[in-house]
Amino acid sequence: MKYCFLALFFMSQNLLAMHNPGKPFGQTPAGESVTLFTLKNAKGMEVHIMNYGGIIQKILTPDRTGKLEDVVLGFETLDEYIKDTPYFGAIVGRFGNRIAAGKFTLDGKEYTLAAQNNGQHLHGGLVGFDKKVWQVLEASDRSLSLSYISKDLEEGFPGNLSVKLTYTLSEENELGISYEATTDKATVLNLSNHSYFNLSGNAKRDILAHEVQINASRLVAVNKVLIPTGVLAPVAGTPFDFTKSHVVGDRINDTSSEQIVLGGGYDHCWALDKPFGSYAKIATVVEPVSGRKMVVSTDQPGVQFYTGNFLDGHLTGKYGVAYGKRFGLCLETEHFPDSPNQSAFPSTVLRPGDTYKTKTAYQFSIN
Ligand code: BGC
Repeated sequence: MKYCFLALFFMSQNLLAMHNPGKPFGQTPAGESVTLFTLKNAKGMEVHIMNYGGIIQKILTPDRTGKLEDVVLGFETLDEYIKDTPYFGAIVGRFGNRIAAGKFTLDGKEYTLAAQNNGQHLHGGLVGFDKKVWQVLEASDRSLSLSYISKDLEEGFPGNLSVKLTYTLSEENELGISYEATTDKATVLNLSNHSYFNLSGNAKRDILAHEVQINASRLVAVNKVLIPTGVLAPVAGTPFDFTKSHVVGDRINDTSSEQIVLGGGYDHCWALDKPFGSYAKIATVVEPVSGRKMVVSTDQPGVQFYTGNFLDGHLTGKYGVAYGKRFGLCLETEHFPDSPNQSAFPSTVLRPGDTYKTKTAYQFSIN
């Protein structure tokens, strides 16, 4: 009898944890089924996330009149995500951002990765975490936990890596993303979410009129293939100074700045001012017409602020919008690019017995 109660108790716990079954969202060419989950709070905010790439497909938040609209770029169907996407909404890994020439040495051994971006490694390789079907661990109306096991030498990275990812939606309209990982061999790791935000709502126009503030007085300066030179350059007096809020478009074409020319606009990692490892608010974005505001918090040391410079209109997304140049902006919280080759940068090495843990949140409100 006692065991019967226990069994019922565990079953009900399971049902509670799984009480959001999601909706079928198609199949990959390999025949794996993908599910789309909707997280929803009492305020009406919705976040739609699929277990393919851990992709955030939609975020519905109110404008100043209360109208709910979508604030991220993406597609209506799985097939479009599979065919061609510049990482819309996806989890990038095992190593988000760039690694010089796709090579690094760890504990005396050299590893070779895909160097698919201008001869450099980008976002985990040819089939990174953004293109994997993740296992669903738990899903409720307020949270979704996914896991992925990346095999030893997958995309060239050492170690069997076990990753857990949890999205949580709060009543304060905050979307939290927390990551955990362990490995059985030393490896390098840099996970991030690659959402392209456009707070105008349903991507009505480009992001040049968005106002951005970033708590960083230094920039990870890059060379012509966007690999860090090793210099953390002061932003004061440059178009990269967002310590006070600035309209994105005001200085984005200031070609007197070499870094602007190299990035084709903003496509850089800012070295955040907060103490290393501490969790704090690091950036604010405001869209003046809709009144929508987004505050980003993280425990990561850097944030890649990318202004969609490579969007060129060839992709048509949700609401029939052709995503032209600078139609979305990314704030990818992360370690600095090329950290595995830059001993002066905070380490991205994960060793057996240690647990990688990091957290980022995007909070939406009205300005
Ligand atoms: C990179 C860009 C790249 C984009 C999409 C960003 O994180 O910094 O250079 O074009 O991702 O791949």
